Amino acid sequence: MPVGGQRLGAALRTSGELTSGEPFPSRRPSRYEPVVRCTPRLMVITAAALLALAGAAAASELAGTWVPQELTPELLTRQPGNVRVLVFKEDPHGALVGKLLVPALAGVPVAVRRDGDHFRLALTMARGMETPLDATLSGDRLLVTQPGGTSQPATLRRASPEEMRTLDRLAPPKLPLPPMKALADNGLARTPPMGFSTWNHFATAIDDRTIREVADALVASGMRDAGYVHVNIDDGWQGTRDEHGALRANEKFPDMKALADYLHERGLKLGLYTSPGPKSCAGFAGSYGHEEQDARTFAAWGVDYLKYDWCSAGLVYDDAEMPAVYLKMAQAIRATGRPITFSICQYGRADVWTWGADAGGNLWRTTGDIADRWDIMSAIGFAQDALSPFAGPGHWNDPDMLELGNGHMTAAEYRTHMSLWAMLAAPLIAGHDVRHASPETTALLTNRAVIAIDQDPLGRAGRRVVQRDPLEAWTRQLDGKRTAVALFNRGETPAKLEATFAELGIAGRASALDAWSGRSLGTLDGKIAADVEPHGVVLLVLTPASAPAASPARE
Ligand code: GLA
Repeated sequence: MPVGGQRLGAALRTSGELTSGEPFPSRRPSRYEPVVRCTPRLMVITAAALLALAGAAAASELAGTWVPQELTPELLTRQPGNVRVLVFKEDPHGALVGKLLVPALAGVPVAVRRDGDHFRLALTMARGMETPLDATLSGDRLLVTQPGGTSQPATLRRASPEEMRTLDRLAPPKLPLPPMKALADNGLARTPPMGFSTWNHFATAIDDRTIREVADALVASGMRDAGYVHVNIDDGWQGTRDEHGALRANEKFPDMKALADYLHERGLKLGLYTSPGPKSCAGFAGSYGHEEQDARTFAAWGVDYLKYDWCSAGLVYDDAEMPAVYLKMAQAIRATGRPITFSICQYGRADVWTWGADAGGNLWRTTGDIADRWDIMSAIGFAQDALSPFAGPGHWNDPDMLELGNGHMTAAEYRTHMSLWAMLAAPLIAGHDVRHASPETTALLTNRAVIAIDQDPLGRAGRRVVQRDPLEAWTRQLDGKRTAVALFNRGETPAKLEATFAELGIAGRASALDAWSGRSLGTLDGKIAADVEPHGVVLLVLTPASAPAASPARE
């Protein structure tokens, strides 16, 4: 299961008993079912990340390693992935830092704050995605509840010396990390990467044949010619290491080099996925301890794009070490001499936008995992505004892959999804089954005017300039003094959005082109007004009246 991203948070909210199924390492049983079932009763508090307590007394009370009261030696050794451990320790400044550990799978920072006679904990899986918990010391027990939840409190006790030894054995040691030194721009991703990824639709149900069929469909549907050239194989391709430690693909990918050749012959590029941790989010082999070797393997296969997903690296490192962990792989990639687009995936923690480019990232995830749902897509997309200044040629904010064509949003919602990602200068990585896409899906993904907004050479991501709930206007400055204007209606009923040019930051008169329909709306003077359908968008490109007219596409 994706223990990275928001799904661990979901797992922690799942109620249920300790299960004896799902021995570690487990593969994700279905797209949305967490491999690790967890309830507050299963929580073990183990160690590491965060927050100042209101005093040393409080810190000493909570410091230590907490495991579920009912933990048995058998469970810890045979099914560590079913165990939750909370660890609290004091940092050198006397502040308490916490980490939730799922032994052998994941480690997630936990913020701690004293509130009267109890503690407020916050698990931060991803930027903006916190799971709050309340913890109360009762004698030698720690009772953990979910605020507002109906489930019984989880009762934790301190780990025994034997359990501590087992936990230590399960914890991989930190590896040497390079000193932080900004890597030079690698010259790639001058505009946001475009392509396809297996994850959103196929999850781990992937093989060589499916990838070739998807590649053929990208060509036949016109998607490749619209710019979707990266074919990214996400989690689930990895096999075991050979006697020299070289990572091999699993039996579903008999010849990765031949697959790369197949893509390259068609004007496409191969993307692969790995993790700095010992395991990927879906439980496959990670690159921990094999970073340089794996980079060389990927380069030899002809890989053009690497997604490096935090996952179990949280067991090994703290969030503060993320920059160096990513830099290490970026340096390993650079050392191969092959141009490889580097995709940082750590769910937007640790303010990645402030160091992602220095660590060699061409793009970095700014959120937990997207899903094919209006509430999740829109929550993610509309929360990107403040990050826009950090995007630019060679280094992009990545609010996650597209869900168009996966069937659980309306046409208006998918149009909003695509428009918002274009306004954000977000990577456009399609996530549907391209082989069986409807003409409507392909049309939404290949609209040249919308893609031209996303791929505008200035590379300046858009900002929200008007917010009148549930209506929002965003603008994005484009090449040639043009401005993209997106009028969004996040509400449930049709609504008219009016905005003045002053609000939109536009001077003088402007000719307007409707990006989705390609229709000219003539010359506008001083304001914009549009009726916008529920969950819908009107997307315009404005050209100053004195400048040449806006063209629907930048060829
Ligand atoms: C995490 C990532 C996803 C995907 C899965 C694969 O959840 O955020 O994008 O790569 O892992 O397991």
